[in-house]
Amino acid sequence: MTSRTVPMDGALHDYLLRIGLTEHPVMRELREFTAGHRMAKMQIAPEQGQFMGWLAHLIGARRYLEIGVFTGYSALAVTLAMGPAGRALACDVSDTFTSIARDYWARAGVDGQIELVLQPALSTLQQQLAEGMAGQFDLAFIDADKPSYRDYYEACLQLVRPGGVIAIDNIFLSGRVVSPQPEDPPGVHLMHAFNDELARDPRIRHAVLPVGDGLTLCTRL
Ligand SMILES: C[S@@+](CC[C@H](N)C(=O)[O-])C[C@H]1O[C@@H](n2cnc3c(N)ncnc32)[C@H](O)[C@@H]1O
Repeated sequence: MTSRTVPMDGALHDYLLRIGLTEHPVMRELREFTAGHRMAKMQIAPEQGQFMGWLAHLIGARRYLEIGVFTGYSALAVTLAMGPAGRALACDVSDTFTSIARDYWARAGVDGQIELVLQPALSTLQQQLAEGMAGQFDLAFIDADKPSYRDYYEACLQLVRPGGVIAIDNIFLSGRVVSPQPEDPPGVHLMHAFNDELARDPRIRHAVLPVGDGLTLCTRL
């Protein structure tokens, strides 16, 4: 028994992947391709992809909102888990990163299920609200520019249905959130304050998982 999460060294992580990963072959190819990318660290960990797919399946998600696509791994994990009836709205600003995503989504046969919108995500979220999409999403994933997290969260609270889930990535910022220093970038201070606000937000129930760089899950009440 333990009262703390066990530290994850390389051997234990390999073991976790061996027993915990049932990865679609195209997800594996994408992960291996992305590992050679200069920004590879931006991709979520494979065990987080597995978890998000499992979560989408658990809640019977049919409509997924993703903020921050990069090479498309998390969108692929969730869209495959939703099955052919699932639809994803994927927000990013980079045509370079997401051209890789589009390629692998097509290879996995889910490109027709994912609408990619290339512009600042907040504009896309505001457009969705203006088009009457409030309460229409089952699952949202916030994984883009950190200073905008609070705005993304407020928009997602409107766009996700009651009982739906908002997942928020990188809430640990590699541990820098614990006690931000004056020389830290504004994103660290903002994440520190945002994490405190979420812990007290009466509109949600939440749980923080020490997976990847920290993942907060919020259920809209
Ligand atoms: C951490 S990566 C996303 C990783 C992705 N979820 C995955 O599983 O591989 C962050 C992404 O956010 C995008 N991004 C940064 N600022 C943005 C903005 N204002 N609006 C939309 N996307 C943005 C970046 O182009 C980048 O692709």
